[in-house]
Amino acid sequence: MVEKYLVKDVSLADQGFKKVVLAEAAMPVLGLLKKRYERERPFEGLKVSACLHITKATAVLVRVLRDGGAEVALCASNPLSTQDDVAAFLAKEGFSVYGFRGMTTKDYYKAIGLALSHKPDLTVDDGADLVVSLHKVAMAIEDEYTGMLPPDLRHGIDKVMGGTEETTSGVNRLKAMERQNLLRYPVIAVNDASSKSLFDNPLGTGQSALDGIMRAMNVLFAGKNVVVCGFGRVGSGIAERARGMGARVMVVEPQPIKALQAHMAGFTVASMEKAAEVGDIFITATGNIDVIRGEHFRRMKDGAILANAGHMDVEINKEDLRREAVSVERIKENVDLYRLRDGRRIFLLAEGRLVNLVCAEGHPSEVMDLSFALQAEALRYLVENRGRLENKVYEVPHEIDSGVAMMKLEALGVALEKLTDKQQSYIRSWQAGT
Ligand SMILES: NC(=O)c1ccc[n+]([C@@H]2O[C@H](COP(=O)([O-])OP(=O)(O)OC[C@H]3O[C@@H](n4cnc5c(N)ncnc54)[C@H](O)[C@@H]3O)[C@@H](O)[C@H]2O)c1
Repeated sequence: MVEKYLVKDVSLADQGFKKVVLAEAAMPVLGLLKKRYERERPFEGLKVSACLHITKATAVLVRVLRDGGAEVALCASNPLSTQDDVAAFLAKEGFSVYGFRGMTTKDYYKAIGLALSHKPDLTVDDGADLVVSLHKVAMAIEDEYTGMLPPDLRHGIDKVMGGTEETTSGVNRLKAMERQNLLRYPVIAVNDASSKSLFDNPLGTGQSALDGIMRAMNVLFAGKNVVVCGFGRVGSGIAERARGMGARVMVVEPQPIKALQAHMAGFTVASMEKAAEVGDIFITATGNIDVIRGEHFRRMKDGAILANAGHMDVEINKEDLRREAVSVERIKENVDLYRLRDGRRIFLLAEGRLVNLVCAEGHPSEVMDLSFALQAEALRYLVENRGRLENKVYEVPHEIDSGVAMMKLEALGVALEKLTDKQQSYIRSWQAGT
């Protein structure tokens, strides 16, 4: 018998419900899909195990999937990102929900095991921990945490018809599995859809990462030297928003084209070694490991603030920071003060985990409306194409991607230009030239 839920405190449900009401009002595309799914029941009789940040926007998504006939089990995709009141509300609504803020890594994998114990037909992941765990069990790879998962999940993988992935780091891991021929079912890279990565990553994370830093430190961005590590989809959004608040923004980037793009956009581009000396606030958004490490902490100014917006807590090397420090003190929720040997103080936010979800509320729901509408439609596509897809990482089909953008435009009351017949045939022709 699988536990029905694992949440901090079910008595928080009413407060969680109010947050979900707020989110629903900002998510008109999911509202439209809800009506459609209630009629068509595309997920009738199917089980979905989802590993997502348990936020008010996620609650809207799982309710829409339920209204389309799915039985949803939800677990947290980060030990610190769960909104406990929302988790309580979902538990009270009858969802199998496993997650609370402040989980240990053991709790975290236990929750993944519980969500997988529902024997899903479809998986939804954010960071690929659920998919990787299921694959490790199927391959009988027992590491410290997946060894805790019930071995009877081993054959569960054969039942899964497909999955979706929400974030860049997860897509990277799944592509690595595909390259090694290890992927056992098709996965759609929702992250890479235009309606996701042009909005969620730069605008959603861009704004909410700064929101998290401001809530944690009450810091003034104007006049500060802000170092943004990574000028990809997320980092470019953070850099633009920090500049908009009056910060002097420096970008650290190893790829020539991205570095040139940052330079031409008017940012100072520098090596991490140089940036370490001038930064007041550092924000990592790379999906990579050890971006800020010992040699950089040794160069930093007194009072430097460190925050990470990347998916994993490996971008700022916490062990190196601990080694440099004589003491570490939690001086405020989500803020740890590291005192270094020479007296300098360094503030690490959110234990190096996603600053926007730990110190603030994550992306505004209206941007998650796009990402989660894509999730729902990608799941529907997997159901409709059951048995026809290979064990690969697929892009979101263009019709779904532009269909979601169209629904959002309609909800926002934004008009599109309509091409004339002459214009349509002109852009498809080659005969007419200069
Ligand atoms: N916080 C959130 O809510 C949220 C939302 C979306 C994505 N993410 C995560 O943010 C991270 C970045 O995502 P993205 O979509 O911007 O990826 P991306 O691939 O578009 O960009 C990453 C950039 O980092 C650069 N980079 C790699 N190593 C670096 C290093 N050592 N120093 C400086 N730059 C380096 C790469 O060259 C690339 O330009 C991922 O982990 C992703 O999963 C988080």
